[in-house]
Amino acid sequence: MTTTARAHTNIALIKYWGKRDEKLILPYTSSVSLTLDDFYTDTTVQFDPHLMADQFTLNGRPQSPDKISAFLDIVRAQAHSAQFAHVASVNHVPTAAGLASSASAYAALALAASREAGLQLAPRDLSRLARRGSGSASRSVFGGLAIWHRGDSDLTSFAEALPETKLPLRMVVVMVDAGQKKVSSRRLMANTVATSPYYPAWVKDNERAAGDMVKALAAADFTRIGELTEQSSARMHAAIFASDPAFTYFQPATLTVWHAVQTLRAQGVPAYATMDAGPNVKILTLAPAVAAVKAALPEFKDRLLVAGPGRAAKVLEEAQ
Ligand code: PMV
Repeated sequence: MTTTARAHTNIALIKYWGKRDEKLILPYTSSVSLTLDDFYTDTTVQFDPHLMADQFTLNGRPQSPDKISAFLDIVRAQAHSAQFAHVASVNHVPTAAGLASSASAYAALALAASREAGLQLAPRDLSRLARRGSGSASRSVFGGLAIWHRGDSDLTSFAEALPETKLPLRMVVVMVDAGQKKVSSRRLMANTVATSPYYPAWVKDNERAAGDMVKALAAADFTRIGELTEQSSARMHAAIFASDPAFTYFQPATLTVWHAVQTLRAQGVPAYATMDAGPNVKILTLAPAVAAVKAALPEFKDRLLVAGPGRAAKVLEEAQ
C-alpha cells in the first residue's frame, strides 16, 4: 500500500513564537492562521517490512531521514508498528518563495503516514500529531481560518477550524530576499524565550490578541483583523530583536515594504503587513484591493505572489 496526502501551508495572523515544552511542542500562546491555496506539499508514504531504515526524498532528491524518522516513531508507536517507511515529498511552493514549508510538510506527512499505518485519526488528533513535527503544522490540517489552542498538555494543545468568513481575504507575498538562507526558527525561538526581556509581555499580549482575533473574524471587521495581524507580527519581531544576542530578520527592503503598506493605508487601501521567520513580507488585504497593493510595490513587480484561502489537508490517493 502507499498513501499520498496534500496539505497547504498557512500564514499566522496571530503568531506562535516560543515553546514551553520543546519535546511535545506546546506553545506559550494560542495562534490564528489562514491556510493558503497556492502553496502545498504532497507526500507519499509506504511502510515496508524489508527496509532497515526510513528513506526520505524531497523534490526527488534523497535527504537525511533523521527528522522525519523521529516523527514517524510517534506514528509507529500509535500504530504499534515497527516498520520503516519510504517517504517522498514534493513541495509546490514557487521556487525560492522563502515561505516556511514545515507547516504543509508535517501536516501532509502526519496525514499520509497515519493513514498508511492504518490509523483513522479525527481532525483534532491529526492536528496534535502534526504539531509534534512543527508547531505551525497543527494549523495546516484545516482549511481557511484555524486557531491553535495553546492548551497545557499533549491532549489539550491542538488546532481547529474557525467559522468561514465572508471576507475575500488575500495574502500578497513579497519576496524581499528569496536567496537568503533561513535562520532556524527553532533555535531563535528558544533564544527569544530564554533571553528577551520583552518575551513575557509578548506572551500576555498575544494570548489576548488571539481571543480578540476570533471576535474580529466573527464580526468580519477587516480593519480590526488587519490591526491585530500587524501588531502580533511587529511585537513578535520586537521581542526577537531584544534577544541576546540581538537579532532581526528585517532587511532594508523589508522596511521599504512596511512603509509602502503604511502609505497604502493612509490612502484608504485595506492592507496590513505580517512577517514570519524570514525577511519576506506578507500583506493581508481584500480581493478588490489586490491591484492597488501590487501597484504600490513597483520595485517588487516580479517578486509578488497572491494567495487566497486554501483547503484542509486531504488524502489524494491510496494505492495497493
Ligand atoms: O512551526 P515552526 O516551528 O516553523 O514555527 C513557525 C513560527 C512562525 O512562522 C514565525 C509563526 C507562526 O505562527 O507560524
